[in-house]
Amino acid sequence: MRYLLLLSFIILSALEAQTPLENTTCKACHPIIFAEYQHSQHAKASIWSDPVHKAIWDKHPYKKQGKYTCAQCHTPSDHTLKGGKGLPTDNAAQKDEPISCQGCHRIESIEEHAHTNRNVIQTKPKYFYSADVKRKGKKIIFHETSSFFGLFKKTTGSPYHDIDYSNDLFYTGKMCLGCHDHKQNGKGFSLCDLGVKQGGSKETCISCHMPQKLGTKVNLKQTATHAYHGMTIHGGIPAELSRYIKLSLSTTSDGFAVILHNEATHTLFAQPLRLAQLRVSIYRDDKTISLPPRTYVRVIGTRGKPSMPWLADTVLKDTSIKALETREEHFDTVLKQGDKVEMVLGYYLVNPKVAGKLGLEGDASTAFTVLTKKVVDF
Ligand code: HEC
Ligand code: HEC
Ligand code: HEC
Ligand code: HEC
Ligand code: HEC
Repeated sequence: MRYLLLLSFIILSALEAQTPLENTTCKACHPIIFAEYQHSQHAKASIWSDPVHKAIWDKHPYKKQGKYTCAQCHTPSDHTLKGGKGLPTDNAAQKDEPISCQGCHRIESIEEHAHTNRNVIQTKPKYFYSADVKRKGKKIIFHETSSFFGLFKKTTGSPYHDIDYSNDLFYTGKMCLGCHDHKQNGKGFSLCDLGVKQGGSKETCISCHMPQKLGTKVNLKQTATHAYHGMTIHGGIPAELSRYIKLSLSTTSDGFAVILHNEATHTLFAQPLRLAQLRVSIYRDDKTISLPPRTYVRVIGTRGKPSMPWLADTVLKDTSIKALETREEHFDTVLKQGDKVEMVLGYYLVNPKVAGKLGLEGDASTAFTVLTKKVVDF
């Protein structure tokens, strides 16, 4: 008997050791969330799956120095890279789960630093944080209770892991900010700052980017909905997010104004490669009058010229739309009765002016994606 126990113990440990990917186990019980995650940018954050990240990395001076410091946020689940040393190899974690399920669900707290924030990871095995307002503050350790000599069994929690519902970061959305808040380059210059303003909005990173969708969150306990895990802005129109950007039109004495209200609690498209545009067209008697687009961009550089991020030390231009901002754009075209005015807000993942320098011309990232659109009859 003792040998049998020992044998099953060895087999189980061998199985666990053999599983090269952390997410494989989650898939069995959380198939819907697992499938969504595959389309998320979190599953594609490495140089192997994100051509834009690769293009910048290939030119980055750290590559020659063998320091993939990007790992802290882009591939924290590749445990072969430690403390920003070494170069990424084409291993399974890099390709399939650079930011694994556990990469998020074990974030215990966030240390704030000027250069970048840092995630503090929980080390207890199989111990995950999550949010559920009804169970807030509880720690659910799996257990089974039986009654009538084992005839009826009742289980609580997950048979694979413990769940801790007491981590406030999973309710406020601050768990995203170890990676997303801001980043400076080696010169201490701010490359990217999401400029988060939470006050005044009831929405959080989680309520906007991970809305509840139909389908159970777990196999063993059917629920009507689950939190969406497929967040990405690469490819496709992010329909759900469009409603947080409001466009309206008003006439002025010498023309009209388009009013753009950003309900997001952060700067729209803070990543320095992005370029957003408002395109306005007037349909008048069979003709289309396209007005010059307004652009929203933060151009960084050095000595008065745009530069690659690692060289930048100044902001050359910043027209980006900030958290909860209302922006008015004036056009001096007088509208006539019967005009139809079309307003389109969209973005390029990679500013077309930079795409050429990165060898990304013709890549999907250089297409214009429509985020929201409105047509007004005048
Ligand atoms: C053997 C099945 C099983 C496996 C494997 C499993 N889970 Fe779970 N998980 C569950 C069950 C059952 C629940 C629901 C528990 C409850 O509601 O009391 C759950 C709940 C959760 C929750 C919290 C859901 C909530 O209510 O907020 C998270 C987060 C979670 N699992 C993550 C993971 C991750 C990450 C993995 C892979 C490392 C994983 N699970 C693997 C069965 C499993
Ligand atoms: C502090 C965390 C952090 C570090 C460190 C970091 N990044 Fe990022 N990076 C992010 C986040 C978060 C995003 C997504 C930003 C967004 O979409 O607004 C991102 C996005 C990018 C993008 C845009 C990707 C796309 O597909 O559009 C590029 C390029 C990029 N990072 C390059 C790098 C390189 C190169 C390094 C290392 C030298 C690096 N990053 C280090 C957090 C980080
Ligand atoms: C471990 C670091 C990390 C955490 C934690 C994290 N992210 Fe990300 N996220 C990234 C990186 C890195 C990227 C960009 C990957 C790329 O494009 O190469 C990204 C991409 C995204 C994108 C898509 C942007 C795009 O370019 O398509 C969204 C939306 C997003 N994250 C939202 C969130 C939200 C909401 C949370 C919290 C619930 C969160 N992230 C938590 C690192 C993280
Ligand atoms: C009120 C809803 C709302 C809230 C709250 C919100 N976002 Fe967003 N977020 C948006 C919208 C709208 C966009 C732009 C649409 C898009 O890019 O898909 C966006 C875009 C993004 C992007 C992609 C930007 C890019 O250039 O790649 C990231 C990353 C992101 N949000 C992260 C976060 C994080 C982290 C938080 C919490 C601090 C957060 N969001 C809170 C609505 C919201
Ligand atoms: C970018 C960070 C991030 C990644 C990666 C991530 N999760 Fe989550 N997950 C969250 C957050 C935040 C919540 C809480 C959302 C809520 O309760 O509304 C959550 C909620 C859940 C829940 C509960 C769902 C619900 O409706 O309450 C389960 C189960 C879960 N995650 C499993 C997984 C699995 C399995 C993976 C990998 C395939 C994964 N998560 C990857 C951040 C993440």
